[in-house]
Amino acid sequence: MTTMTTSEEYADLWAYVEERRPGIEAALRANLPLAPAHVETRFNEALEYALFPGGKRFRPVLTLLGAELVGGNPDEMLPAAAAVEFIHTSSLIFDDLPCMDNASERREKASLHEKFGEGLAVLVGLGVLNAAYPLVFANHAGSPEKAIQAHAEIVECIGAAGMVGGQSVDLAMLSGENGSGSEDLETAESIRNLKTSALMRLALRTGAILAGATYIELAALSRFAELLGDAYQLSDDLLDLDEDGELFSEDRTTLAIERGESNARFRLRNTIDEAKRILVDNFPSSRARTVLVQMTDYLAERNA
Ligand code: IPE
Ligand code: MG
Repeated sequence: MTTMTTSEEYADLWAYVEERRPGIEAALRANLPLAPAHVETRFNEALEYALFPGGKRFRPVLTLLGAELVGGNPDEMLPAAAAVEFIHTSSLIFDDLPCMDNASERREKASLHEKFGEGLAVLVGLGVLNAAYPLVFANHAGSPEKAIQAHAEIVECIGAAGMVGGQSVDLAMLSGENGSGSEDLETAESIRNLKTSALMRLALRTGAILAGATYIELAALSRFAELLGDAYQLSDDLLDLDEDGELFSEDRTTLAIERGESNARFRLRNTIDEAKRILVDNFPSSRARTVLVQMTDYLAERNA
């Protein structure tokens, strides 16, 4: 699965992920949308396969960090963190389908539809997506208005202005159309990043909203999330390149291909620097801030 660097440079990041991961795994398990015994086909098996062992769990970690950054208690945000990972999982399942990216592998194993068939993959994608919505209300009975705001954030993230719209741009690019209607590759690329950035924004802001962040803090997190999403996508595109600088399976083009790897690395560096500046300018020094800075830096050299 993950080949995490053990470098000193990211010591706080790995310590934080390690510390939080058991709680995240437990929250995912506790909220798994299992089919009841009399209905169960292979749905539960497919659900298990889609979620465990999972990937880096960076997005639910971001939810906990978003809360901590504004002084909240991350333990109370675990259900919301699970919601974010469910949404991420659904987007990976849908993204891999033959009618989308047509990916037969995910995290070094067969993709869900490859293993269980398209029908079940679509249903598991819907099942985990549907399971996400109520989770922002857990632990927040005393502050329903915050939970409602977090719920609205999920609706916006998934909708046409976020992940659905972003995926439609991906689709248009795959079929050779210019998804953004823009001649400019940078603009097209940033619109393609819509899906990744929307999920980063959701991950960070949900925790912060539930922890009672101010409007100013939320605005800073939105700007940071957008850059983090761009950096994330750029580092993912770099990971997709093989040694010759060619994409190994897909038909789409990316900035990493068109402008070359060194140009993509340069853009990634700039995006990372700007993202970190927003954090440092808007939030007081804290462990959560240090971890977020390290996670941003990690994107420049991640290998999983
Ligand atoms: C993959 O993300 C999808 C992209 C943003 C571009 P990750 O590689 O971070 O997902 P995990 O770690 O497998 O969950
Ligand atoms: Mg991955």
